[in-house]
Amino acid sequence: MINDQLEKIIRKYVDKKGVLIQLLLEIQHEFNWIPKEAIIRINKSLKIPVSEIYRVASFYTALSLKPRGKHLVRVCTGTACYVRGGKRILASVEETLGIKSGETSSDGEFTLETVNCLGCCALGPVVEIDGRYFGTRTPGKIEEILSHY
Ligand code: FES
Repeated sequence: MINDQLEKIIRKYVDKKGVLIQLLLEIQHEFNWIPKEAIIRINKSLKIPVSEIYRVASFYTALSLKPRGKHLVRVCTGTACYVRGGKRILASVEETLGIKSGETSSDGEFTLETVNCLGCCALGPVVEIDGRYFGTRTPGKIEEILSHY
């Protein structure tokens, strides 16, 4: 099943150059992560070295080499957010979700990640949930926001 879906996606990119990121994004979108089978199949079909595929897949935060939960929560720990209380917000999110950064909840609902900057420092500290940005200095507010997911 997964292999059939992978084959269908990868087939569209055979004999095309400079398509690795686009291909990985499509696989990420389909499976919510980049399975090991995908890397093996891309290597065989597109003749791209496994090391290159891993390098790209681990560089871009939009891509994940581990299964992500239904909701992706990213807490910014960049300098601007950090000095405004980002560490406290991260601790609050970890306590609320019961997981540490880099983990997925056992029910598969949430994955928590940290990032170095979300590009909206003036709102800091910033938390991104499924692509929506929330800026708050109050840990209680982020707990309330998370309760809606
Ligand atoms: S440092 Fe947090 S958004 Fe830039």
